[in-house]
Amino acid sequence: MDFRSFLGRYASITETKSISKLMECTGGANGLKKVLSPFELTLLGIGAIIGTGIFVITGVVAANYSGPALVVSFIISGIVCAFAALCYAEFAAMVPVAGSAYTYGYASLGEIWAWIIGWDLILEYSVSIAAVAVGWSGYMTSLLSGAGIVLPPELVNPPGLNGGMINLPSIIIILAITGLLIIGVKESARVNNVIVLIKISVILLFLYLASSHINPANWTPFMPFGWSGVFTGAAIVFFAYIGFDAVSTAAEEVKDPQKNLPVGIIGSLIVATVLYIAVSAVLTGIVPYFRFQNTSAPVAFALGEIGISWGSALVSVGAICGITSVLIVLLFGQTRIFFAMSRDGLLPAVFRELHPLYRTPVKVTLLVGVVTALIASLLPLQTIAELVNIGTLAAFIIVSLGIIVLRRTRPDIERPFRCPFVPVLPALCILSCGALIFMLPLVTHLRFVIWLILGLIVYFAYSRHHSRLHENTSGLECWEAPGNGKHL
Ligand code: ALA
Repeated sequence: MDFRSFLGRYASITETKSISKLMECTGGANGLKKVLSPFELTLLGIGAIIGTGIFVITGVVAANYSGPALVVSFIISGIVCAFAALCYAEFAAMVPVAGSAYTYGYASLGEIWAWIIGWDLILEYSVSIAAVAVGWSGYMTSLLSGAGIVLPPELVNPPGLNGGMINLPSIIIILAITGLLIIGVKESARVNNVIVLIKISVILLFLYLASSHINPANWTPFMPFGWSGVFTGAAIVFFAYIGFDAVSTAAEEVKDPQKNLPVGIIGSLIVATVLYIAVSAVLTGIVPYFRFQNTSAPVAFALGEIGISWGSALVSVGAICGITSVLIVLLFGQTRIFFAMSRDGLLPAVFRELHPLYRTPVKVTLLVGVVTALIASLLPLQTIAELVNIGTLAAFIIVSLGIIVLRRTRPDIERPFRCPFVPVLPALCILSCGALIFMLPLVTHLRFVIWLILGLIVYFAYSRHHSRLHENTSGLECWEAPGNGKHL
């Protein structure tokens, strides 16, 4: 292939999709229902963010990496996420279309980048759902055993771990949420609202009960593992912030999205950050950091340590609720990303079929439910969780790059929300996400690269030839696909 034809081919796979064309496909009688208010959207964000990260992994991070400087790790990660949230907010208000970072990549950097980011998000969401379900299963199992119901190890552990065969509770919770999402978004949002309020109440209760037991001596030494421990801790607790981007996957189901999406994204991140900083400071203030070594329920454990066992049981119930809402939003987000990719032709039409009565994507929701239940039931938590952060960080980098590119190539587009200090702020986001990726283990980098190579094979073998970029789609045509039935 000569250089000219190489350039021609490169240009064809980096063609962008115009924003007006993206927007054309979002309306119509066959579209998703616009039901979510800004308050519900913010709760959806909090629902997605606060979960396994704060309730499960904080203890291990404090004991092994950050020490009492856990709060600094949370602040570092929070700043990186704030940069990313501002970039997401600009895109979400400008292109309120389902698909989140995938759609933004299509509008700004071109089809191949959109595909890469969509493929990356498939990994991020699937493994997050599985990891969070395993966290849920752990809390549920320990709560049940506290009540005298001890499940056999064969049914709560994956094969090869403590005599396990299958992680049954994680399958049950994923399939229950799959059913809920099939019934409808409004119903799911209602359940989510209640759960989120319980979760926030439980965290506030913890802060109230525990703050009078703080012993400042527990905060020294502040950084027992030095700055490198604090930064590695930041790369791990980053998991706790994942989810605010899921708000943007609901773009087509939001009332007045230009105004409400930035509110939902930034508002939910602010609430989560404040709570994380408070919880991590109090946790390490009431129990010496090294005591968290072997606990997978640090918040409940800490209350037990200071003798408030009723509070500890209540926190466990709240944690289970909290982790449930993370699962709802992540499962929801995953199906919406599949839709958007299918609507563009990059994935088969089955991914955008809607149920005639519920107007929800039943088949894809079931597919996501079954696949993630399988991952969660058969693999140990650590293996699943390792890949989550790298996928999200990569998505943040591409979104930030997209903001810089689109400000140059399309300065004319109306931007209801403008990310401040462009290009400095998105550039800082790219650098800081790159630094956090660097802090993750090498084996995670390798697995990620293998996943991306697989994605490129699928793109060149299937998606590129089925892309609908050059179809003259408008209105109803966007929702129609070969075969019968309704499609998104
Ligand atoms: N941020 C989510 C959690 O901590 C993924 O569970």
